[in-house]
Amino acid sequence: MLNFTFQNPTRILFGQGRIADLKDEVPTGARVLITYGGGSVVATGTLDEVRAALTGFTVHEFGGIEPNPTYETLMQAVELARAEKIDFLLAVGGGSVIDGTKFIAAAIPFAGEPWDILARQAPITSAVPFGTVLTLPATGSEMNCGAVVTRRATHDKLVFMNPLVFPRFSVLDPTKTYTLPPRQVANGVVDAFVHITEQYLTYPADAKVQDRFAEGLLLTLIEDGPDAINEPIDYAVRANLMWTATLALNGLIGAGVPQDWATHMLGHELTALHGLDHAQTLAIVLPAMLDVRRVEKHAKLLQYARRVWGLHDGTEDARIDLAIAETRTFFESLGVPTRLAAYGIGAEAIPPLLAQLDRHGLTALGEHQSFGLAGARQVFELAL
Ligand code: NZQ
Ligand code: ZN
Repeated sequence: MLNFTFQNPTRILFGQGRIADLKDEVPTGARVLITYGGGSVVATGTLDEVRAALTGFTVHEFGGIEPNPTYETLMQAVELARAEKIDFLLAVGGGSVIDGTKFIAAAIPFAGEPWDILARQAPITSAVPFGTVLTLPATGSEMNCGAVVTRRATHDKLVFMNPLVFPRFSVLDPTKTYTLPPRQVANGVVDAFVHITEQYLTYPADAKVQDRFAEGLLLTLIEDGPDAINEPIDYAVRANLMWTATLALNGLIGAGVPQDWATHMLGHELTALHGLDHAQTLAIVLPAMLDVRRVEKHAKLLQYARRVWGLHDGTEDARIDLAIAETRTFFESLGVPTRLAAYGIGAEAIPPLLAQLDRHGLTALGEHQSFGLAGARQVFELAL
């Protein structure tokens, strides 16, 4: 096992009815800014429930944070928060609202141009504290310190991570996910699945607990993902999915093991240039990525084939082929296509994607920092 430091300070309030407990979690006397997305929380009544829980607090609201949140929109919230002397943020929504709120939290006290937090990884020394009410299990953003923000004007979709932007608390009420459209449920399952493979499908590091934990999370997604789509109102299924997605990217399974993340980096460029949903990009890239890097990932791919897909027979290569095929079939069965062509993207799109990776310095990716533009070209070609 590799050396690691692990600390996750986010307090989780899990279960039906927990929004009412917000009143005990938000600091007394706080000037709160509620942030939300394009209106789902208005339509579903979740925002009303949050407002009711915060009776007696000074509350402002900022709506309109879009999927793949943009710097352009988020800076409007930063201006509002500065003007209203906001000292606590409350994100109500999915990963985009939570990520956007992390950026807002870091940008409010930032002295320079906040875009530098992403573009130059400029150090931040403080952030406004915030909590979240999660409505879409997928990203793990509710219990991690990463955020992904897009600058619409320049087609940059960039990541920043900082312990100062761990949520103070997150409310995870599975019933708030009943209203998700099937596409978003499927996206969430695929995103969580790929978060796990980014930390699991690398090379063996004698990390037995992390491996078994990752396999358990993958198996839960395989079991409960289809059920969540077929039977939208099933508390047990929604609860398991929600906690699985959180555990998939809260630092636990990634502690002490090598990590990849190349699939995500290629995926971000697909979103930046073609506007695909985050999970759609992952469903396209992952099967091709595993195939292209099957030698580097040989031992873990065999373990994945055996323990996750129950493949014991045939040659090693045949088992790896089948495990990759099962992965692709699983994504497709959820209604998430795994080929670029299905999204109307052809071979002519590949050079601009490679140019984006180059411009963003993403040329030495993966668990061995050896996955460069030649590999990326192969992956995109195989994904056509
Ligand atoms: O905007 P509203 O109206 O709220 O609607 C949203 C949005 O259209 C809707 N939705 C959310 N909860 C709902 C609901 N509709 C009905 N009922 C509900 N309960 O779903 C749509 C998608 O929401 P979004 O927040 O964009 O989805 P997701 O949670 O998948 O977040 C994706 C973003 O997170 C980033 C992605 O890159 C992308 O920008 N990621 C963040 C990560 C992190 N912070 O650790 C890691 C991930 O790898 C990922 O990169
Ligand atoms: Zn992701």
